[in-house]
Amino acid sequence: MPTALIIGASRGIGHEIVRQYRQDGWRVIATARKAQDCDMLKALGAEAHQLDVTDVEGCAGLGWKLDDEKLEVAILNAGVYGPRHDGFPAQADFDAVMHTNVLAAMRLLPILAPLVGNAKGKLAVLSSHMGSLSERSSASGSLYRASKAALNSVLIDTALLHGSQGVTCVAFHPGWVRTEMGGAGADISPEESAAGIRATLASLPASKQAVFRNYDGSPIGW
Ligand SMILES: NC(=O)c1ccc[n+]([C@@H]2O[C@H](COP(=O)([O-])OP(=O)(O)OC[C@H]3O[C@@H](n4cnc5c(N)ncnc54)[C@H](OP(=O)(O)O)[C@@H]3O)[C@@H](O)[C@H]2O)c1
Repeated sequence: MPTALIIGASRGIGHEIVRQYRQDGWRVIATARKAQDCDMLKALGAEAHQLDVTDVEGCAGLGWKLDDEKLEVAILNAGVYGPRHDGFPAQADFDAVMHTNVLAAMRLLPILAPLVGNAKGKLAVLSSHMGSLSERSSASGSLYRASKAALNSVLIDTALLHGSQGVTCVAFHPGWVRTEMGGAGADISPEESAAGIRATLASLPASKQAVFRNYDGSPIGW
């Protein structure tokens, strides 16, 4: 039975990815930062660990708990958008967005990559097309954009370090999805986004270099 790890699975896209992998009979390890969300994940049949990705000891502790797992798929989904205005960024907003979207990846991806390498599997982050530098046509949400561009950079470095051990690194734009972050007027449902991400992960050929994909598998420029 293949194993998937989803980090940040209390709601939205991450939660739906857990639900779909469980429905397909996968073993799923999932994290959430609240105890009641871990209970909900256990009710779906997942093994659950409590983790706030901004907590350095929590990240290191997850590494100990995962020990020498063999992960066919690992997905770092946890993310925040931050302020909806583009004015002068407050220190607290900057720290919250960068710590959640970037610093956590710098701590977690080196822990997860060898475990994905054990299975010659796929290591994915939930990025955004807003993080693309080459396809950018708007400056709105600049703090979020900067954080996702930096997240992509961390993933590219992870591929340089671990690609030769069979770790295929993938940054995803999940679509504009009807979640708390995406809002009720967004284009697609979490079900459609999660199904596309899973299908793309399943069909992507192994690669030593990181790739950037839309949820439907189409390429996005870095
Ligand atoms: N929705 C979209 O249209 C869209 C578009 C592009 C990219 N994305 C990206 O896709 C990912 C999922 O987005 P979503 O739409 O599902 O967002 P969401 O509904 O707002 O869910 C965000 C998830 O991240 C978790 N999270 C946030 N901070 C965390 C922390 N410090 N520690 C652990 N977990 C934390 C949340 O947990 P809590 O419940 O504990 O807060 C929740 O499970 C994000 O990385 C987002 O940037 C989304």
